[in-house]
Amino acid sequence: AQDPRLARISSSIRVIPNFPKPGIMFQDITTLLLDTNAFKDTIDLFVERYRDQNISVVAGVEARGFIFGPPIALAIGAKFVPIRKPNKLPGEVISEEYSLEYGTDKIEMHVGAVQPGERALVVDDLIATGGTLSAAIKLLERVGAHVAECACVIELPELKGRERLGDKSVFVLVDGA
Ligand code: PRP
Repeated sequence: AQDPRLARISSSIRVIPNFPKPGIMFQDITTLLLDTNAFKDTIDLFVERYRDQNISVVAGVEARGFIFGPPIALAIGAKFVPIRKPNKLPGEVISEEYSLEYGTDKIEMHVGAVQPGERALVVDDLIATGGTLSAAIKLLERVGAHVAECACVIELPELKGRERLGDKSVFVLVDGA
């Protein structure tokens, strides 16, 4: 039987059709954040999974990985590292480009934030095509970290994002509506 907390998390996520463009069913987690029980349950489910896994760094992907990552990091005693859109981080960065349906995108991480041999968890709100998470994994592996797992609140399974992550596993709480 599935954890009863998952149904409440799922129903707290608002789906907005045709945002930001026609054909997209936007998964709006701001309504999850308004539901104090659903938000707490979301963080608790991740903390229960990762608290005894020797994870020293939680890497959160801009923008919504910055909402879910830090409370997980604090609860499991890990540091938090922001992975950002280009030209936002002020220090020396490494960058990773990834392909979109049309064109490419890029994310960046500060050099020196993560040390070789660290165990990392990558956190974002949602996995769609998997491009963002695959680039985040590459950034962490380039600095010598081991990515234990990726964690997302929502998966859009029809986009087969997992296939883009090779042998890395993604732990997700709910499927998008
Ligand atoms: C969304 C989402 C993930 C990414 C997932 O971010 O929050 O970061 O897309 O898509 P993918 O699996 O196909 O890579 P978005 O591009 O909307 O950026 P934002 O969070 O800065 O608004």
